[in-house]
Amino acid sequence: MKLSTVDDTRAFGRTLAQRLRAGDLVLLTGPLGAGKTALAQGIGAGLGVTGPVTSPTFVISRVHRGGRVPLVHVDAYRIGGRLELDDLDLDASVEDSVTLVEWGEGVAEPLADTHLEIRIERLDDDTRSVELVPRGGDWARRIDGL
Ligand SMILES: Nc1ncnc2c1ncn2[C@@H]1O[C@H](COP(=O)(O)OP(=O)(O)O)[C@@H](O)[C@H]1O
Ligand SMILES: [Mg+2]
Repeated sequence: MKLSTVDDTRAFGRTLAQRLRAGDLVLLTGPLGAGKTALAQGIGAGLGVTGPVTSPTFVISRVHRGGRVPLVHVDAYRIGGRLELDDLDLDASVEDSVTLVEWGEGVAEPLADTHLEIRIERLDDDTRSVELVPRGGDWARRIDGL
């Protein structure tokens, strides 16, 4: 799928959020500036969380509440090895939240049995392409038609 502008990316995040529920793990992959945080902002808006979703680069993880389900937003960029549950905010659990991990590939998979991978690429014309990759469970069915 092609996302021409940052607003398109946020709108896609809002749409995707309607399919998300407590216990979900979503890994965002793509280089710096791809739009991972922009997509996270759309998902946060779709879940109805209060307050802005900003890059958690300097805190690793942040919990956004006030929506249909809490959003745990993680930036694993500086995490060397595997992401441990202890690295996250202890006030929120993966089971009760939607957990969204930027740079999560190869790092955050142990947090849940299944996950959705979202690959964002920046194309030469500065638009973005996004690909959803279901990894187990019922993800393939849940993202059907997106
Ligand atoms: N189609 C698009 N989708 C997402 N971001 C875009 C798009 N076009 C331009 N941008 C810009 O690219 C940047 C993406 O930044 P950010 O979401 O922080 O990326 P990341 O978290 O992947 O490093 C923003 O400055 C945004 O305005
Ligand atoms: Mg980011």
